[in-house]
Parts: sequence; C-alpha cells; structure tokens
Amino acid sequence: MSEYDGVSQLRADGSLRHLLSLEGLPRERIEWLLERAQRYVRPLGEPPARSNELAGITVANLFTEPSTRTRVSFELAAKRLGADVVNLEVQLSSRVKGESMLDTLFTLEALHVDVFVIRDSEPGVHGLVAAHAAPHVSVLSAGEAHVSHPTQGLLDALTVLQCKGRFDGLCVAIVGDVRHSRVARSAYQVFRTLGVAEIRIIAPPAFMPEENEFAGCARFTSLRSGLKDADVVMMLRIQKERMSQAAFPDPDRYFQKYGLTPERLALARPDAIVMHPQPMNRGIEIASDVADGPQSVIRRQVTNGIAVRMAVLSAVIEGRGGAA
Ligand code: NCD
Repeated sequence: MSEYDGVSQLRADGSLRHLLSLEGLPRERIEWLLERAQRYVRPLGEPPARSNELAGITVANLFTEPSTRTRVSFELAAKRLGADVVNLEVQLSSRVKGESMLDTLFTLEALHVDVFVIRDSEPGVHGLVAAHAAPHVSVLSAGEAHVSHPTQGLLDALTVLQCKGRFDGLCVAIVGDVRHSRVARSAYQVFRTLGVAEIRIIAPPAFMPEENEFAGCARFTSLRSGLKDADVVMMLRIQKERMSQAAFPDPDRYFQKYGLTPERLALARPDAIVMHPQPMNRGIEIASDVADGPQSVIRRQVTNGIAVRMAVLSAVIEGRGGAA
C-alpha cells in the first residue's frame, strides 16, 4: 500500500508520483531512490552534479513554516536539474488554509507549475493538495507538522548506507524530542522498511511518543543505557514551536541529562556515527565537540539532502513519461 491520506503515491505502473510519506512505500522503491540519489552525490570541492532532466519543468516551493536548509536544498536540486523554480512563502491562518492552498494550487497549475514542494505546520494539507492536483502534477512534502519529513528520512538512510554499507544488524538510537519530531517518524519508517534490526528511542518522559507509535522500538529514559553499543546516534532538535512555552525544558538541565557529550558518545560503538537534522541547539542537545567531531556526519547529511531531492524530482518527472 503506497496510499497516504487517501492519495496513492505511486502511479499504476509503480513509478513515484507524489512523495508525502515513507510509510508504506515499498522497499524496492526506497532502495531505487537511494541508488539514484547516490548517482548525484559529488565530493565536496568538486562541482555539483548537473543535468537537463528537468528542462521545461517548473517547480514551486510553497513554505508556510520557516526553513533554510530544506528550501535551499530543494531549490538547488531543481535548478541543478534544469528546472525553473518559484519560491512562495505563504502565511495563512488555519481557518482559511485548506481553501487558500487549493486556490494557490489551481493558480500555479494554470501557470504550468509541474511540481509542488510543500512545508506546512498542519497535518493533512499535503494530502489535500495532492488529492486535488491535476494528473500530471506531483506534490512533494518538505515537512508536514510533526508527522512526516520523507526527504529527510531518505537522506538519513543514504548517509547511514554510505557510512555503514548496510542496514541489517545495525542499532540506531534516536535521541531527544521524539514526540514532536517528523524527522524521527520518517527515520523510523525508512529504517524499519530497510531492515534495521534495532531502533531505540531515548527521550525524557515528556518527549516520549504515544505508546501506539514507534512499534517495536525499545524505549529508554536514560541516555547512558540507551546509547550502549549503538551504531548510529541520531540527535533531534527540541521542537519549541510544537509545545507550550512552559513545556520547554530548562536548557542546562536538559543538557545534563540528554546532551550528547564526548563521554556519552564513548558508550556507543567506537565507530558510531552522529547525526542531527539541524538546526542544532549546541550546548542543549549536543556539545560542539561532538557536533564538529570526527564521528559527526551532520554536514554530510546536508550534502546528501541535495542528492536525494534531485533523485525524487527526477523520479516523479521521469515517471510521467510522455506527459512532459
Ligand atoms: C528539520 C525540520 O524542519 O523538520 N530540519 C530540516 O528539515 N532541516 C528538523 C528540525 O527543524 O528540527
């Protein structure tokens, strides 16, 4: 089942049409996307990959939540494939959001926009737009509330694959504000599908997800016990915007209990990698020594983000076949 919010993410021939969630996407399709992304990866210092695959295609970035990395990354990905790009930062009240989003969709479709990249703080907007999109149009999620961030999940998977060469037998520890994190949800979905043996959740009680989520993950409130022998340590940002002011923990106390320091990282496997989706709260979630240290692959994640977004854009356009 590749359905999300009642919308099929795949076309009848199995090609990718929308990317709204990694939940339910077949393993072969995910592996295929990772392979394709790898083709666009270039070492830093070399010129980035470029092609004309998206010549004549227009991509609209519609962001109603702030973003630097993801928006720039989608924009560069589209431009490096030869597409035209428009960026729209829309501020809509939730009362009119659904309606206005559809009006925006229809207007931009009339301007020959082919791909919509959407980030929104409310669940459901992405599915709504995809459900109303013209048959040749694709919708890609650049982050949906706390629910889903599929290109982040793919870039995280690509980074792990590059560093570890496999998914089976690995232990991945996801640390921090799991409850409010779309990054954690997409990571969980992609790692499960790809056969990661052990996924651990490490969080203070207030940041633990509901019991019915993250099935099969061991849960730890102690960072020390949870980190033991982990191969991958995925740190998360505290999602301040998704909690009341009062719920935001005291930064010093949080760092004392849940901050990743070199001493704590030493509990994981010696070759463990450290990830963070950014933006990082240094000194709260992670010590600078670790963020900039030899086990950190945080900048590599950013580089992989462009490759993954190029792969997804090229996949949805290629899958339209003659329609382009
Ligand atoms: C993440 C996001 O916005 O979900 N960042 C990103 O995409 N670069 C993670 C975060 O903001 O914590």
